[in-house]
Amino acid sequence: AAPGLAAPAAPAAPAVLDAVAALAELAGIGADPVRGGWSRHLLDDADRDMRAWFVRTATSLGLEVEADRNANLWATWRAEGATGPAVATGSHLDSVPGGGPLDGPLGVVSGLAAVSRLMAEGHSPAHPIRVASFAEEEGARFGVPCLGSQLLAGEIDTDRVRGLTDATGTTCAQVLEDGGYDPALIGHDPDRLADTALYLELHVEQGCQLAPLGHPVGLATSILAHGRWRVTITGRGDHAGATELVSRHDPMLVAAAAVRSARARAVETDPAARARATVGKLQVVPGGSNAIASEVRLWLDARAEHDEEVRDLVARVVADVEGASAAEGCQVSVSEESFSTRVEFDGGLTDRIGAALAPAFGDVPRIPTGAGHDAGILAAHLPTAMLFVRNPDGVSHSPLEGASDDDIRAGVDALTDALRALT
Ligand code: GLV
Ligand code: MN
Ligand code: MN
Ligand code: MN
Repeated sequence: AAPGLAAPAAPAAPAVLDAVAALAELAGIGADPVRGGWSRHLLDDADRDMRAWFVRTATSLGLEVEADRNANLWATWRAEGATGPAVATGSHLDSVPGGGPLDGPLGVVSGLAAVSRLMAEGHSPAHPIRVASFAEEEGARFGVPCLGSQLLAGEIDTDRVRGLTDATGTTCAQVLEDGGYDPALIGHDPDRLADTALYLELHVEQGCQLAPLGHPVGLATSILAHGRWRVTITGRGDHAGATELVSRHDPMLVAAAAVRSARARAVETDPAARARATVGKLQVVPGGSNAIASEVRLWLDARAEHDEEVRDLVARVVADVEGASAAEGCQVSVSEESFSTRVEFDGGLTDRIGAALAPAFGDVPRIPTGAGHDAGILAAHLPTAMLFVRNPDGVSHSPLEGASDDDIRAGVDALTDALRALT
């Protein structure tokens, strides 16, 4: 350029979202100072900030962003000439209490990154591509997992959802309304389902199957049947020092029996069922160190290969809890908060994705998972598949969850290859 004259600006290259940088940005939202990790629950401050990031980022990539009636967010690339129902990808931006950085956000970020790559390389898709962020996948605020996808799919009673309460007693209806959603309008969204050709969810691996196989990505075969049960044990609150041992009705003893029974009954189940049962959440009322509890609420999470194996496992645990309750002179009631039947992902779609990945990734391993996903809910309504990104230690639902930067980028490469082939 002549002295004193700036060179003409090069035409702006389409922006490509780097997934690793985007995840670093999201790590600044919802860090939990008490539990460690991240806590982001339906429409709380952290979840709203995550949602704002999604809207801002997708808009800056030139995508059409919208929220559906069920608080799910969607960002669509409607390229010229793209017709018919959309090919959808995505995951969720909410977390478990004190969760890791990737369960959820990795799939949403990778979806946006893959779409930005396809735009930048000049791909001209035959169908719209849509990135979804489903509401309250973990069910941490209202107890019911995959809330947004279950509502969309018409798989949960809307009156029940409106009446769900969080730990402070606030109803889901109120939370939706405060977040700008009309609680009267939630529920089955057949038009949106009909406008979705398929759903491919990318997720950090939960469990450690890919590392020993030496593969950065895997494809899902199935999800264990699983559910959550709320167990309320009522005893008699009293003084820890003044109450004779023989006259106590202490629900904590029953809760302790429930925790031990969950492990023992899962262990005694036929190993082929891959049964597992967990008590990870307990509320003690009133919760004083010098008071015998009046009530204990606990949540039993139970999973196994097949629905009836889960039901049978839960029945055995409940029988143990009832026995322990009778012995202590307490009362127990059990209610089912959620049940998700076993899921088999679409074999034909998974084969197509495997073929699209083969040039760069070779023979991609097919692995089952014990974790629930929105893809599992949608599998009953749409061709659905999942891509997993290697998790070196397998840890998830914990701040220790992780994946290497290289593997995160490999996941975006794989998703990009899959979406290119599917559109
Ligand atoms: C959700 O991640 C679940 O499997 O509980
Ligand atoms: Mn999870
Ligand atoms: Mn998840
Ligand atoms: Mn999940």
